[in-house]
Amino acid sequence: MALRVYRNYDALSHAAAAEIVLQIKQNPISVLCLAAGETPRLTYNLLPEIADKEGVDFSRCRFVGLDEWLGIPDTNEGSCAWFLRENLFAPLNIAPRQINLFDGMTKDPAEECRRMSRRIVDCGGIDLMLVGIGLNGHIGFNEPGVSEDAHVHVTELDETTRSVGQKYFREATVLQRGITLGLRHLLESRKAFMMAAGAKKAGIIRLALEGSITTKVPASILRKHACGDVLLDSEAASMLTVI
Ligand code: F6R
Repeated sequence: MALRVYRNYDALSHAAAAEIVLQIKQNPISVLCLAAGETPRLTYNLLPEIADKEGVDFSRCRFVGLDEWLGIPDTNEGSCAWFLRENLFAPLNIAPRQINLFDGMTKDPAEECRRMSRRIVDCGGIDLMLVGIGLNGHIGFNEPGVSEDAHVHVTELDETTRSVGQKYFREATVLQRGITLGLRHLLESRKAFMMAAGAKKAGIIRLALEGSITTKVPASILRKHACGDVLLDSEAASMLTVI
């Protein structure tokens, strides 16, 4: 695992956007799995301009969803699907055939898990995952105590995730369950980046990077990834003792 610390959120976002562009340059048919959430927002907003400048073509890559709130439709602004559509797919003119997201309104979550697992196998596995970290150490919706061997699964959301998740919604919303790729997908991906920004993430970043490698802090499992890098701004890195 390589750790890279940038002076601020802007520099961090430029670095993460450059990694995505590099991936597409090296392999235009890459399979990407990119998180929703506040952290990668600027990264995605920077992509069209960088892609344009570098002549990078996103028309052949494929996207698979990382996670979704169960019971929340993709027309809700708080859904991961909405976020990715607004911040990533629409600005980059990604065609619907390139996108495979979870259906948060599925009547059959178990089948939805199988469908996404099959999809990932059919497209040859994930080339690049870009994930964030929750205040409880989650990655995607892999909540503390999740199995390291889980692939796609449905999860009961942790209390922290339910309350912190309110920030994505216009009005108070019941968030009970999520559907997510598992830590096994993270470990099986060919390359993975975890991003974190801001002082509020400093404590959990320290636990994830300097505490034990344990599924009680799911993000710590990234340290087992042969090609898993951590990209931080200086505030998120401020409690690390190695810096
Ligand atoms: C979102 C996701 C979550 C977030 C995490 C951090 O698709 O998978 O695990 O990455 O909760 O969220 P932000 O970036 O909003 O702090």
